[in-house]
Amino acid sequence: MAKAKVTFSDVNVTVNVPVGTRIIELSEAVGSYIAYNCREGDCGVCLFEVIKGQENLSPVSKEESSVILTRFQEIMDGWRTTKSLDALQEKMQRENFIGKHCRLACQTQVFGDVVVAPL
Ligand code: FES
Repeated sequence: MAKAKVTFSDVNVTVNVPVGTRIIELSEAVGSYIAYNCREGDCGVCLFEVIKGQENLSPVSKEESSVILTRFQEIMDGWRTTKSLDALQEKMQRENFIGKHCRLACQTQVFGDVVVAPL
């Protein structure tokens, strides 16, 4: 069976897995800090960053794209309602997704080597 190498940069762990494995199955196993909730592509909590190898992942479906868009809008709504500049700057730094390629861990399968991280 073909294998793919997945590196979780936050915990500095690389695993070799069968192609088709979902990122969420691996992130839990290696102790990565990629969060999750529904595991069904509905909540958007499992948003993660693809640092390298996005071409080696399953394509983004219309449903995943829509959930990612909604999640980004929720994050920005949180920024808009923040009452102090210090708190806003802290949130923007922590939740910064600008310029990052983001996917949902519960929907994304690996088909080749990738490097990923929590968002
Ligand atoms: S865990 Fe809810 S969308 Fe992935």
